[in-house]
Amino acid sequence: MTHFLVTGASGLLGLNFCLAVDGKKHKVTGVDYRNPLKWINFKMQQANLTKPGAIERIINEVKPDVILHCAANANVDDCESHPEEAEAVNSILPGEIAMAASNHKIRMIHISTDAVFDGEVGNYSENAMPNPLSVYSLTKLRGENAVLAVNPQALVLRVNFYGWSISGTRSLAEFFVNNLAEQKQLKGFTDVVFCPMMVLDLADTILEANEKGLNGLFHCVGPEVMSKYDFGVAIANQFEFDPALISPTSYLEGGLVAARSPNLTLCTDKLTAALGHPLPAFQPGLKKFQSQYRHGFPEMIKTLVE
Ligand SMILES: NC(=O)c1ccc[n+]([C@@H]2O[C@H](COP(=O)([O-])OP(=O)(O)OC[C@H]3O[C@@H](n4cnc5c(N)ncnc54)[C@H](OP(=O)(O)O)[C@@H]3O)[C@@H](O)[C@H]2O)c1
Repeated sequence: MTHFLVTGASGLLGLNFCLAVDGKKHKVTGVDYRNPLKWINFKMQQANLTKPGAIERIINEVKPDVILHCAANANVDDCESHPEEAEAVNSILPGEIAMAASNHKIRMIHISTDAVFDGEVGNYSENAMPNPLSVYSLTKLRGENAVLAVNPQALVLRVNFYGWSISGTRSLAEFFVNNLAEQKQLKGFTDVVFCPMMVLDLADTILEANEKGLNGLFHCVGPEVMSKYDFGVAIANQFEFDPALISPTSYLEGGLVAARSPNLTLCTDKLTAALGHPLPAFQPGLKKFQSQYRHGFPEMIKTLVE
């Protein structure tokens, strides 16, 4: 049994990882900050990790085997308005955690993003040259570089995922479900393509990559390419909502603050070769997402911060 220290445990990935893994597969201790969790079975630490000494104190207290670093400012438009804060949490903090992990001989898994690319070409491999378009993507790229510079044994995963979050608003999938359930008209971008992975599939893939002892940079996204519009329609069909509520639209008409990369598809050949099998398929992941909805999981996790 591995003891994971999970930063960003109140966030979309961190919380789902902790709930799926703790006690069933491994032990976890989470770190939250502005949204402290209640009513959970795993141990928590509350900290602003950008404060000097915070990660060192937690490592000394928790003594984990692995640090899974999910904490970030992952709100693309907020990063654009607060570039210095984004730099502190997305660029500097990962390097500090990587250094601390190395000093303590603890394995580190760092979560990065598909958005480091400009999206002109798509199907990017780990050798392709990043070209970040926004403060978020630039700071995330600096973060992964900082990790690997001081801790080449770390595993860095560029991901894209969806699932249920405590705010109910963190993932695009939640946006579609929330609006479709209320029969609201909404827009789906036909000219932004990506490779979404259900967060529980990502949690399993992280565990497997850790068990295999992978290190260095890997792309870890779903095996199927789709537009954001197609993603919305797939959700509507799975949940038996009306797909005609989603209007096909260009992202150029979307009124977004930060620049977006139109083609965020990543090549995952390196990871599939290392794991020895394909990455989890889209449709079964979507079924799990809907099954959680039917069983009241989105409502349950909201109560964890009330
Ligand atoms: N969501 C996606 O589709 C997506 C796509 C690609 C990559 N990623 C990457 O995946 C990772 C997880 O993303 P997510 O969507 O799960 O993020 P999220 O839901 O926005 O959660 C962010 C987490 O970071 C914590 N945090 C922020 N600043 C902190 C600080 N100074 N000290 C301690 N904790 C802090 C937050 O804690 P509090 O809320 O308690 O303050 C929260 O738990 C990030 O690295 C993100 O860049 C996400």
